[in-house]
Amino acid sequence: MYYPDDVVEEVRSRSDIVDIVSGYVKLQKKGSSYFGLCPFHHEKSPSFSVSPNKQMYYCFGCGAGGNVITFLMEYENYSFPEALKVLADRAGITLPQQEMSKEAKAQADLRTTLLEINKLAANYFHYQLKQPHGRVGYEYLTGRGLSDDTIRHFGLGFANKTSDDLYRYLKGKGYSDRILKESGLFTISEKGTWDKFWNRVMFPILDTNNRVIGFGGRVMGDGEPKYLNSPETKLFDKSRNLYGLSFAKSSREKYFLICEGYMDVIAMHQAGFTNAVASLGTAFTTQHASLLKRYTNQVILTYDSDGAGVKAALRAIPILKEVGISCKVLNMKPHKDPDEFIKNLGADAFRQRIAEAKNSFLFEIEVLKQGYDLNDPEQKTDFYTEVAKKLLEFPDALERDNYIQAVSREQFINYQDLKQLVSRTAARLGPAWAESRQRAERYGSYADSVARTPGSGGAGAGGSRDGASYGSRSGLPLAEGGMRGPGQRRREKDDGAKQSQRLLLTWLIEEPRLFEKIRGIISPDDFKDGLYHEVAEMVFEAHEAGTVEPAAILNHFINDEAQYREVAALFSASLKESLENEQQKKAFVETVIKVRKHSLDEASRTAADIGRLQEIIKAQSALKTLHISFD
Ligand code: GTP
Ligand code: MN
Repeated sequence: MYYPDDVVEEVRSRSDIVDIVSGYVKLQKKGSSYFGLCPFHHEKSPSFSVSPNKQMYYCFGCGAGGNVITFLMEYENYSFPEALKVLADRAGITLPQQEMSKEAKAQADLRTTLLEINKLAANYFHYQLKQPHGRVGYEYLTGRGLSDDTIRHFGLGFANKTSDDLYRYLKGKGYSDRILKESGLFTISEKGTWDKFWNRVMFPILDTNNRVIGFGGRVMGDGEPKYLNSPETKLFDKSRNLYGLSFAKSSREKYFLICEGYMDVIAMHQAGFTNAVASLGTAFTTQHASLLKRYTNQVILTYDSDGAGVKAALRAIPILKEVGISCKVLNMKPHKDPDEFIKNLGADAFRQRIAEAKNSFLFEIEVLKQGYDLNDPEQKTDFYTEVAKKLLEFPDALERDNYIQAVSREQFINYQDLKQLVSRTAARLGPAWAESRQRAERYGSYADSVARTPGSGGAGAGGSRDGASYGSRSGLPLAEGGMRGPGQRRREKDDGAKQSQRLLLTWLIEEPRLFEKIRGIISPDDFKDGLYHEVAEMVFEAHEAGTVEPAAILNHFINDEAQYREVAALFSASLKESLENEQQKKAFVETVIKVRKHSLDEASRTAADIGRLQEIIKAQSALKTLHISFD
């Protein structure tokens, strides 16, 4: 969907960012900005800032930043049009009707109708729970320890034994057989129509926008199948949705818990672990992992303690690693699943198990060990060799050594012996082997994923604090992005010219009066970096027009996440001191000179003729005597 720029700008400019953000985050005024605890990463002291002047937010801890539209997109997981709609409604602006192709419109209408049907069905099931026919369902749920609050919170319900009451109810609302069939709630054939779910307690499945997209139903008693899920529909794709995520996404915990079942999620949430999600009776997929990656970079697997659960964990670990999520595995023993564990040992014991969860690599080694009889010397040697091979999958020597230490400690193997075995194994298998294994593991090294922060897709928490604000001594920004994983660390060096361009842009946003000082000295063309050039053109144009609105400029980059992040950081970096300070004034002049000098040097390299070259040389010498007055 596409809205014209002026419409977007009207909605943005009429939605005050402080108003909107304070609906989600407790803010306190400090100077010209507001500060609060960042909703996008876990923190104890506030580094999340909202600037009413710039109409922007920025977190100095995790680097999340943007304007009022992207705040809603990130916080509520809205798409751009969804966020715009919410803000427009709030501001009393009517968005223009979107032109859609007939086909697109039919599809959109179908989805809307299916959502309506699901919502009606969920309400119907929930209502049944309190009816005489539903008593068995209600008693089942309370019998399993769920409180009324929990039942309401999760919208649990009951499908009774009548074979077509839901069908008749929805028919009565005017829906056609064709559309009811698409909902996946009914079996429709020549012989008749039946409700697919009956005699089951019902678990509505919500997407991250809190819309009912499908259902799971657990049979009363011992019928088969124990759990029945909605089939795939236009709305429901098992491999892309996680049960509980609609709630877990706003949990303040920086890690997520992943379990197997509906009841496990609910039991954990009820016990206070509102960061629990489950894949819906399917194996954990790459799409699940990418979905989670939007919210976290750390998970704890709380799968069943049986063989199937261990297998599921072993399968999920590399999938999680691949998207950069580090993981640990919780020991559930002697209980089968989180639901039973909490019921028997309580929330505190569970919290303890979370604290003790095992690093996934050490878990893998532990499982590997079960395959060997360690009383047999030959098998013991084989086990050690396998361990050494697995250790070789860590490309980084330091990281590998950390794991050699950990494994030797856990498995009571002499550290030096294990280290030697790893080296010998590497020599025996040859570099090609190690490399190919490492390539397979590249994205997954533990250190790599720990270095990332939730949702930010880049900077580490501590690292970007430095990266985003400016080093106070030199007044120059440090390399952007801060600490990154080893794979990304080999980023090209952020040379001085680029730094100066960036700093100058920050200054022009932070202290608009400086524009007068550089007018005629610097032009947007002096910003040689592609992105900075683009930003500079907009910043200069805004200054000329007399209205500098960083949040509006930022909006131009909304379709490119990397650029958006960089511009948001650029506009939000705080200059430690204003230009009252002599040293800062000097730094400013130096920066202006650097940008201009770099631009002239570039120009002289590419000058087309002698005349042009002479101009450049003249400009270069003029630069030596440049004076900027601050009086
Ligand atoms: P309870 O007996 O209700 O405690 O179930 P549980 O949560 O202990 O379930 P179990 O470990 O048997 O299954 C975990 C999850 O796998 C369930 O929540 C379902 O999503 C799924 N599942 C279990 N049985 C079936 C089945 O028969 N069919 C399908 N499609 N999924 C199932
Ligand atoms: Mn169970």
